[in-house]
Amino acid sequence: MNASAHDLAALLPPEFTLGVATAAFQIEGALDEDGRGPSGWDVFAATPGSIVNDHSPAIACDHYHRMPEDVALMKELGIDSYRFSLSWPRIQPGGSGPVNPKGLDFYDRLIDLLLANGISPMATLYHWDTPLELDEAGGWMNRDTAYRLGEFAAIAAAAYGDRVARWVTINEPATVSANGYMLGVHSPGEAHMLKALPSVHHQLLGHGLAMQALRAAKVPGEIGLTNVYSPMVPASGNPLDKVSAGLMDMAQNRLYADPVLLGKYPDAIRAATFFSSFSPSSEDMELISQPLDFYGLNYYMPTRVAAGPGEGTVPKGMAEAMGNDLNGGGSGTPFHIQSFPDTEITAYGWPIKPDYMAVALAEMAERYPELPPVYITEGGASFEDLEIHDADGRLIVPDERRVRYLAEHIGAAIEATSPGGTAESIELRGYYVWSLLDNFEWSAGYKQQFGLIHVDRDTMARTPKASYYWLRELMAARKQGAAVAGAPVPAAGGGAESAPEAADVEGAGSGAAPDAAAGTAAG
Ligand code: BGC
Repeated sequence: MNASAHDLAALLPPEFTLGVATAAFQIEGALDEDGRGPSGWDVFAATPGSIVNDHSPAIACDHYHRMPEDVALMKELGIDSYRFSLSWPRIQPGGSGPVNPKGLDFYDRLIDLLLANGISPMATLYHWDTPLELDEAGGWMNRDTAYRLGEFAAIAAAAYGDRVARWVTINEPATVSANGYMLGVHSPGEAHMLKALPSVHHQLLGHGLAMQALRAAKVPGEIGLTNVYSPMVPASGNPLDKVSAGLMDMAQNRLYADPVLLGKYPDAIRAATFFSSFSPSSEDMELISQPLDFYGLNYYMPTRVAAGPGEGTVPKGMAEAMGNDLNGGGSGTPFHIQSFPDTEITAYGWPIKPDYMAVALAEMAERYPELPPVYITEGGASFEDLEIHDADGRLIVPDERRVRYLAEHIGAAIEATSPGGTAESIELRGYYVWSLLDNFEWSAGYKQQFGLIHVDRDTMARTPKASYYWLRELMAARKQGAAVAGAPVPAAGGGAESAPEAADVEGAGSGAAPDAAAGTAAG
C-alpha cells in the first residue's frame, strides 16, 4: 500500500472516527501543582535506574500549562476525536476521599475546549497513574483498588458525564500486570512473576465496577475498555514452539479478553498450577463481563515465540531501551521472543507488520462472536526521527516511516473489516494514533518517541512532523470527499512530502531523507 492520504481517504467509511491519543502522566507534567497528589509512577520514576537516562516526568510535555495550544494543534489537524486520560491523583489526590476542585477544573476546561473546536472527547479513567496511597496499600494486588476505581468513575461521571462521548475504563491491564507486577520494569516495580494474577483480576474487576458506576450515572457516552492485542506467532512448526506461542497468547491476550468478552478465564490458565488456587466468584465475573458499547484494541505488533530460553520475554531492543537485561531467559519463563526475519523494526525493536493488524482483528472476530463494535484505541511507532533545520533555523521532521506505518496499519484495519475482509464481521468504528506529542514513554523516558508533533525538551516548543501534515491531509481529503460525494477525488499530491513546511526546504521531502528509511534499534 502507498502512503497517499487521498487514496486512504477514499477507503475510509463515512462514519469512521480518526483521532489521536495521549495519557495524563506522559504529557502533563505539573506533578506538584494545584493540589495533585503523588502517584506510584512519580516514586518509581524518581528511583535511580528505573527510567532510561533517569529521565524525569516532572515536566513531560508541559501540557498542563499548554493545553490550549495543544487543542489548537488538534483543531488544525482536523481530527474527529481526542483520547486522553484523567489523572486520578490530580482529581482525587489520595485515591479515595475528597476531590481536588482544581484538578476537576483542568479536565472541565479541556473537554469544553475540545467540544468548542468540534473534537469529540474520549476519556480514559485509568492509564496507569495510580494514586500513591493506593499503591502503598498494595496497588492492584489489593482488591480494594478495584472499588476505589469504581468510586473514581462515579466522580468522573458526575463531573464530565454530560460531555464525554466515549469512556475507556482502563488501559492495557496486560501491560500493568506484566510490566508492573510480574517483571517489575514499570511502577510499582514488583516482580512477582506468575504470582501476580491478583493484579489481573483486580484490574478487570475495577473495569467492571467503573462500568457499573458509569451506567448508574446514566452517562450518554459509550463505554468500553482498552486491551492490547499481539498475535502470537510460533517461530517454527515445531510443536514446542506452537505450545509456547499458545502459552504467550493465553498470558498476554486471552487472560484479559476472555473474562470481559466470554465471562470466564481461559481453561488453560485455570488449569495451570500457578493459577489453580484461583476461583473468582460468579458476581465478579458478571461485573467483568457486562455488555460493552465498544471494545478498545491497541495494536502495535505481533510477537514471535519460541520454546526454551533465548533472547528474552520482551523484544531485545525494548529490553535494552528500558535499561533492563531481560535476556538470556533471565525472566524465568520456559519460552522466549525472537525477532521476525527480514522485518523492519521500530526504534523500540518492535517488528513492523501491518498484515498482523488484520490477523489481530481476524483472531478477535473468530474468538469472540459477540464482539461489540471496535475502536483501535492506539497504534503508532517510535523512530529516531531525522531532524533538519532550514535556512532560517526552523526545525523540519520528515518522519516518512511513521507516515508509512500509519497509512499501512489504518489501511489494513479497514480492509480486514470491509465486506470480504478477513474480519468482516467486526464493526470497526475508528483508529486513534499514538501519539499526539513526543512524550514520556514510561521506562524508556524520552528516548522512544511516537509523536506526530516533536517537542523540544528544552523549550517545549511544538513542531508538527511530516506525519502530522499527512494526517491533516487525510482529514481534509476525507472531508472534501464527503462534501463532493460521488465526484471524483482530486488527484493526490498525497504523502508527507506535500506538507508545505517540508516542501520549501532543500533536502527535505520524501526522497530526501534516506536515513529515515533505515530501521535503527535503540538502546
Ligand atoms: C500504552 C501507552 C504507551 C504506548 C507505547 C501503550 O502500551 O497505552 O501509554 O506509550 O503503548 O509504548
